[in-house]
Amino acid sequence: MGNDISKVVIKRLPRYLRVLELFMEREVERVSSKELAIKLGSTASQVRQDFNCFGDFGQHGYGYKVKDLYAKIKEILGLNKKYSCILVGAGNIGQAIINYSKFSNIGFDIEAIFDINPKLVGVSFRGIEVCDVENLNDYIQKNDIDIAILCVPEIQTLQTYEILKNKVRGIWNFATVDLNPTDYTSVENVHLNDGLFTLVYFINNRN
Ligand code: NAI
Repeated sequence: MGNDISKVVIKRLPRYLRVLELFMEREVERVSSKELAIKLGSTASQVRQDFNCFGDFGQHGYGYKVKDLYAKIKEILGLNKKYSCILVGAGNIGQAIINYSKFSNIGFDIEAIFDINPKLVGVSFRGIEVCDVENLNDYIQKNDIDIAILCVPEIQTLQTYEILKNKVRGIWNFATVDLNPTDYTSVENVHLNDGLFTLVYFINNRN
């Protein structure tokens, strides 16, 4: 079913999850499309349209059962299982990700860390010893890796991508160079700057 849902809708699903988590924290059992829309800065019809993509969840005049909707969205995103992850590039961003324990709590287990810097090789982060990147190719051939988190400098990005592509199922790419997906490997390019630059626009255009 997931394959039929447009990418634009999929990209909105994590936001729905965040909002539904807030409702669950407040022990709210049902929520209307209008209430969801207000939290998301969207419209009730947009919310209904999104949810119609994966079956009719709401009941007219009744709204959505928060827990059911939350479980369904998690299932669609595939968040109801665990993912084996590796991290390549244990510098500033890499270490921030490793040290953010919530990722492992929600099923993203970083199983191995690779870096080129001899000063980092052998150092442990959250109990995982950094391996020399020379072992990366061998490791991903022998282990079934779902996601590689890529945090290497721009100049090293393409050569690392060549090692990873078609061997890991997904690359969460923090390097500034955008990477393309292949038939086997999905890619999400992350640019923290985008949010910062948008913020700056709004600071400068308040009226
Ligand atoms: P950093 O220099 O602190 O860390 C990079 C790490 O990669 C270092 O530990 C280095 O030894 C390692 N490395 C270099 N070549 C490697 C290779 N071939 N294989 C494995 N490890 C290798 O850099 P920082 O600040 O963590 O940034 C990492 C990347 O993220 C850079 O490309 C940077 O431009 C980018 N960046 C992305 C942002 C975003 O929003 N996506 C925001 C800021 C930086």
